[in-house]
Amino acid sequence: MASPPFQTSWLALALVVALGMTLAPRTEAARAFFVFGDSLVDNGNNNYLATTARADSPPYGIDYPTHQPTGRFSNGFNIPDFISQEIGSEPTLPYLSPELRGQRLLVGANFASAGIGVLNDTGVQFINVIRMYQQLEYFQQHQRRVAALIGPERTKKLVNQALVLITVGGNDFVNNYFLVPYSARSRQYSLSNYVPYVISEYKKLLMRLYDLGARRVLVTGTGPLGCVPAELATRSRNGQCAAELQQASSLYNPQLLQMLKDLNKKYKSQVFIGANTQQMHNDFITNPQAYGFITSKVACCGQGPYNGIGLCTMASTLCTNRDQYAFWDPFHPSQKANRLIVQQIMTGSTKYMDPMNLSSIMALDSRL
Ligand SMILES: *[C@@H]1O[C@H](CO)[C@@H](O)[C@H](O)[C@H]1NC(C)=O
Ligand SMILES: *[C@@H]1O[C@H](CO)[C@@H](O)[C@H](O)[C@H]1NC(C)=O
Repeated sequence: MASPPFQTSWLALALVVALGMTLAPRTEAARAFFVFGDSLVDNGNNNYLATTARADSPPYGIDYPTHQPTGRFSNGFNIPDFISQEIGSEPTLPYLSPELRGQRLLVGANFASAGIGVLNDTGVQFINVIRMYQQLEYFQQHQRRVAALIGPERTKKLVNQALVLITVGGNDFVNNYFLVPYSARSRQYSLSNYVPYVISEYKKLLMRLYDLGARRVLVTGTGPLGCVPAELATRSRNGQCAAELQQASSLYNPQLLQMLKDLNKKYKSQVFIGANTQQMHNDFITNPQAYGFITSKVACCGQGPYNGIGLCTMASTLCTNRDQYAFWDPFHPSQKANRLIVQQIMTGSTKYMDPMNLSSIMALDSRL
């Protein structure tokens, strides 16, 4: 005779099976995530390359769960990590990681590479980095590997339903146009002509991304480029944000947004979603205390004025509480700032997210 506990657990098992069956389609729908761009979103590809643009030694990663450097340009998590958490998936692996194989291919991949820009001639000083056209080729290669696993039909669906993040453009100013006085690009273009040129090349990349199957693409603008500790240390007077870089970002961001709108009109769908990272960073700069920061000018890790000179290494000055700093190193936001940025991406008003925030998108897409 079956004892009551047995019956109870049998009932529980039946319930789990029934629930499992109703939940199964949802689990399968846990969307893939693909990441493209530069150091703001690179999570370790450059570790595998012969390049000087790398974050694979301490104190990078000091607040990461393993407390080890990973290649992320952060003391801990970066923006893609927090987005992965929000969409309920494991973090994407760098495309060059040997661990990216088998079922893990279905989670997505991170193709980003520190130092790159929209233009091929951006970041040449870093030597061996994965430029945008190459990231897109890898995306194609990734899809072939997924297709070998689940077939072309399901692969197409996986890519169409995926979330894509692209963060690129800042280096086309910092590590190209303004890298040295009288740079080749600055002799070729005035700033007001260079910006539309970069935007027109960026548009081609986004159209290629669409052709490769991307249908939901978060596109971040640049932050206020002249306000990062590196520029405060080298280009600013009295701690004011550096004027020429501020001019660059204030020209670039509205034109980027307009280009995204044009593309959405062309494709008759809200494929491209603009994230106003300039506004998000400006909030930190205007009122750091409101976000729990003691400063948005001084980097946690670095040396010289604003800790803005050189690289963040074991020899640098290192702050004790990283959460109190908007900037981790001379160029990159801290884990805490990244978390706040992703909160705005998730729930921000149209001032931050155009045409809508990621919560709204996820609600829309779950009904399809
Ligand atoms: C970048 O280089 C690739 C490969 O040489 C080329 O196909 C692409 O058109 C170039 N892009 C730009 C913007 O020049
Ligand atoms: C997201 O954006 C919509 C539309 O702008 C807004 O109504 C909503 O409050 C925002 N936040 C969340 C969590 O959806």
